[in-house]
Amino acid sequence: MTTAPGITQYLPLLSGPLGDLMRDPLGFQLRAREQYGDVLRLRIGPFTTYFLYHPEHVRRVLSEHQKNYVRGWHYQMMRRLFGPNLTVSEGPFWLRQRRMAQPAFHRQRLAEYADVMVQEASKLASRWQAAAQEKKPVEARHEMSRVTLAIASRTLFDRDVSAGADEFGQAFAALGKYFDLRFKRPISTPPLWVPSPANRRFKRAVATLNEKVAEIVRQRLRDESDHGDLLSMFIQARDEETGERMSEAQLRSEVLNFLLAGYETTSTALTWTWYLLGSHAPVRERVRAEVKAVIGDRPPTAADVPLLPLTRAVVQESMRLYPPVWIIPRRVVAEDEVGGFRIPARATVVLCPYVTHRHPAFWESPEVFDPDRFSVEHGAGRPKEAYFPFLSGPHQCIGNEFAMLAMQLVVARVLQAFDVVIEPGQVIKPAPSLGLWPDGPVRLTVNSNS
Ligand code: HEM
Repeated sequence: MTTAPGITQYLPLLSGPLGDLMRDPLGFQLRAREQYGDVLRLRIGPFTTYFLYHPEHVRRVLSEHQKNYVRGWHYQMMRRLFGPNLTVSEGPFWLRQRRMAQPAFHRQRLAEYADVMVQEASKLASRWQAAAQEKKPVEARHEMSRVTLAIASRTLFDRDVSAGADEFGQAFAALGKYFDLRFKRPISTPPLWVPSPANRRFKRAVATLNEKVAEIVRQRLRDESDHGDLLSMFIQARDEETGERMSEAQLRSEVLNFLLAGYETTSTALTWTWYLLGSHAPVRERVRAEVKAVIGDRPPTAADVPLLPLTRAVVQESMRLYPPVWIIPRRVVAEDEVGGFRIPARATVVLCPYVTHRHPAFWESPEVFDPDRFSVEHGAGRPKEAYFPFLSGPHQCIGNEFAMLAMQLVVARVLQAFDVVIEPGQVIKPAPSLGLWPDGPVRLTVNSNS
């Protein structure tokens, strides 16, 4: 076992390689992988981080030896704010919550959520119809946030919080803004106990969310009828072994968790999908033809989705190029060996789907948008972990099929009605923060088919 190649930096913190990493985390890592190989060690003062880029390393961390790579301090803030839940936990508590939440994502249940997804996609299409008539561009990020927040909140607790005036939706947006700020300016953002205006706004938003969710959960616990949504499933769920139900506090924490985990990620992936489809006319034409042949003019259903392989491939390719969760940190419990290198206990390990999804050993011309890579023939022989937008192993995203269903239905419903073209002259790059949004608005022209 040897020490991994890498960079050691003490001071000044904002120049040299560390400054490069903070200014351009994606470009820096792509260049570092080329220069140092698949394992990069970055030592800053007493802290050592290992970046692992090879699919075999991803498998080691997420599946083969996953108990040795746990969710560390990065997840603690969320735990402190909203309590323990599936996304921030490990061990027996995580397993219990996972088992209780799993039935809410069974195929039968997903088909029921598909109705809500199509209804919301149809509302989006109506809004875009108006824009098409007035020959006004639409902005993809704003529009996708609205449709995915409506889908998430309706399937989760049977209420649409996406309208601009909704207090819940506003508090949710404020939370996102704050996390972005902390990510972009980790050094200059004061700790939460400092009463700065940003911190006060954030705390108000957290309090509002906690109050609103508490109200929703309490009301539901009183009425006990099945609303056919995720919250009803969580309320009915029993631990298989002990027969225990989720407590009121756990229900609150999971509702917020599922909203947080589910809506921005799906929205980011859809925004990039429109950007890519809007700028690749030949692929767009093929997808429109597929949708027309399978669905025609009637509203899409969950049963259509398996018949739309190209639509699925487009969404997959969009998440290959722009994975909404672009970085995944873990804390090392005990010393391990990865790729022949020593990974010491207590170090941080970082996986970066953005870089692995461009690994030249597994992806030809990695920067090119080519959904056909996901066809059965082209995908044969590629290791599973060369592509992991939803992670892999036991902590794999529980909402992955839900998200795939929602994204394909939205794309199909929109392309039934419109041709969607990117407005010329826009230079759009990914801006990594908590998520991987485009660095500015993505303006689209929508031309009605009729
Ligand atoms: C394109 C959309 C989505 C992407 C790319 C995505 C990605 C991910 C990733 C990478 C993780 C692992 C995070 C970590 O361990 O640090 C995760 C976990 C999770 N996601 Fe998603 N997600 C998406 C949509 C959803 C949706 C729609 C839901 C719920 C309706 C959801 C619920 C969750 C939950 C509860 C976890 C924690 C799972 C566990 O640890 O057992 N996600 N997701």
